Amino acid sequence: MSPEVSKKPRVLSGMRPTGKLHLGNLVGALNNWVKLQNRYDCFHFIADWHALTSDFADTSKVKEYRVEMMIDWLAAGLDPRKSVMFIQSAVPQHAELHLILSMITPLGWLERVPSYKEQKENLTDRDLGNYGFLGYPVLQAADILMYKGNFVPVGEDQVPHVELTREICRRFNSYYGEVFPEPEALLTPVPRLPGLDGRKMSKSYGNVIYLSDTPEEITKKVRVMMTDPARKRRSDPGDPDVCPVFSYHKIYSPDETIQTVNRECRTAGIGCIECKQSMSQHLIESLSPLLHRRKEYESSKSDILDIMEEGNHKAREEAERTMEEVRRAVKLA
Ligand code: TRP
Ligand code: SF4
Repeated sequence: MSPEVSKKPRVLSGMRPTGKLHLGNLVGALNNWVKLQNRYDCFHFIADWHALTSDFADTSKVKEYRVEMMIDWLAAGLDPRKSVMFIQSAVPQHAELHLILSMITPLGWLERVPSYKEQKENLTDRDLGNYGFLGYPVLQAADILMYKGNFVPVGEDQVPHVELTREICRRFNSYYGEVFPEPEALLTPVPRLPGLDGRKMSKSYGNVIYLSDTPEEITKKVRVMMTDPARKRRSDPGDPDVCPVFSYHKIYSPDETIQTVNRECRTAGIGCIECKQSMSQHLIESLSPLLHRRKEYESSKSDILDIMEEGNHKAREEAERTMEEVRRAVKLA
């Protein structure tokens, strides 16, 4: 069904192309997007302009990362017949709407955004004193409002950005008439998947399993994964509740295995080597459709580019329709 005749509520979300996706991205976001695509009219885009706000000094990887990200999305099960997938910078209307929204956004609103303050303090290796970085949430508001998104599936950290989008939306509508519906963040509880060392899974910690890892690589990584640190010898009983391996079992293994591990770990009935072997088997089995699809897409880069082009085209049509309305509303048409 084409998006314009669909009566389903619309979902919109984006990701910055900052490198290969990992299991944390899959469990935390992508699996949810895949589930949503049957019930909602979905738009998902690769936020390459947003990637520039902090990585403007070296842009050489962005193009490659866009393709990698699209492959990861398709491998995860996003279906181009159900979800429109596109590249932000291929739809220049985002820049135009961003400009108009920037006129009605008070500076104080932007300076109050928690991620702005945090990142400026934490990413001290980069110069974030630029105008684009402060305006990041305005560009995000433009992304969301452009498609009149009703729901925005995002993580906790992005909620303030959606809140700001709502404020900008209300302000726009009060000045120029009801053009945009107010979007809502869609927070879905997701299981916690720690990194290989038990910390949050993050590329910068080097504790991730990539969606592009082969079964052999996955097995190798699991083999050196952290376990209950109190369990030093095979004969020591362990506590699965503090063990990252068990968190994975809970997501990827059948109930029976989960129960067995939960019981036998506490009595030293099962050893960590065996426990990990069983976990990596279940993990690889669950990922096998994804790994398979990824291989297929990797060998047909031209299909990926076609899918992108088609998504870009649909998004541009939709965006242009909104912009015509916007230009009329602000009396610039
Ligand atoms: N800011 C988001 C992030 O860093 C990415 C993003 C850009 C986005 N535009 C969006 C997410 C619009 C949802 C909707 O993860
Ligand atoms: Fe973790 Fe499994 Fe070892 Fe228990 S037996 S500590 S759950 S790896």
